[in-house]
Amino acid sequence: KIVPVIMAGGKGTRLWPLSRATAAKQFLKVVGDETLFQSTLSRVSDSKVYEAPLVVTNEEFRFLVAEQAREQGVALSGIVLERTARNTAAAVAVAARVVADRFGPEARMLLLPSDHAITVNDTYRDCIGKAAEAARAGKLVTFGITPTEPATGYGYIERGAELGNGVHAVSRFVEKPDAERAEQLLASGNYDWNSGMFLFSAGAIITELERYAPDVMAAASAAVAKATRDFDFIRLDAAAFAAAPSISIDYAVMEKTPNAAVVPAPIIWSDLGSWDAVWKIGDSDGQGNVVKGNATVHDTRNSLVVSRHNHLAVQGMEGVAVIASEDAVFVGRLDNAQAVGALVKTLAADR
Ligand code: GDD
Ligand code: MG
Repeated sequence: KIVPVIMAGGKGTRLWPLSRATAAKQFLKVVGDETLFQSTLSRVSDSKVYEAPLVVTNEEFRFLVAEQAREQGVALSGIVLERTARNTAAAVAVAARVVADRFGPEARMLLLPSDHAITVNDTYRDCIGKAAEAARAGKLVTFGITPTEPATGYGYIERGAELGNGVHAVSRFVEKPDAERAEQLLASGNYDWNSGMFLFSAGAIITELERYAPDVMAAASAAVAKATRDFDFIRLDAAAFAAAPSISIDYAVMEKTPNAAVVPAPIIWSDLGSWDAVWKIGDSDGQGNVVKGNATVHDTRNSLVVSRHNHLAVQGMEGVAVIASEDAVFVGRLDNAQAVGALVKTLAADR
């Protein structure tokens, strides 16, 4: 069986003001009745295929994780707690160590971000099945999404020779190119977006981390060895974990390893990282507006208007996001939605 590992320690600042310091976006109902974290749990609920999931998150979010899993009726393999965020390479390294200790180094992990909307259908299951086979042979498998624009927020994967069964070698992995490079990669037609999901054996990723990010792996191993456990919580040793350099798994390993493989994945996938993505997947009225909650629009087009509280009315606007939470309002252009992260950095501590 496959061990799902859910990374849920990010802050998700670009969905401010719904995403807050105390409730990151993965714990919000951005689309539908489940939070993004809960819909990630639902995706791995088939107990014929998957073990109970392991979650890696920040200490601050421990009760949100436990409560939202309980609400779904999902038992977890454990909740690994970080005192300080050290980015995804360190999160993956601790998860791999915990999985290897519990299930053995051969155990395969499906690493899942918790900020995506994905539809589970036969195509999706087929891609996971192919990836699981390649991971058994020691590959670090990524899922390639057909790119639609020169996005700068994703990794790009160049598809190499077919290894068999629809799985390809990765000839190059480029994490978050600048705008000019992204245009080139898109125009070349040889690149897919990295979905952000990965499938590999615990032993294979530990070997690559030891090779390309030895400081990260050493800190993670020490933090797990000295962790304290109560109930489902696996509390990493804070001092040991803090020694890990802050780097993402994409830069630390995926750009460097020769063992990367990619499964072209024509799945229904959306990274709900920013307001433009929420607008794109929302149900629009005849004018291209996505309107949610206590809100009304008039003479407005191609806009996202959301209110969780006060009645919000928007008139005469085009291409904007107007987002009102209980206590804060954001107004900005949808075509500049990535900049919200930088804006939030300038706000007061209680953002
Ligand atoms: N536990 C833990 N600790 N989780 C973290 C941390 C951390 O320090 N930092 C981020 N995460 C979680 C986030 O909550 C999210 O679920 C996941 O790890 C991925 O982190 P993001 O910060 O959202 O990454 P990204 O979107 O910028 O880039 C990744 O995903 C893209 C697709 O969405 C990369 O893999 C790209 O290559 C990829 O294209
Ligand atoms: Mg993301």
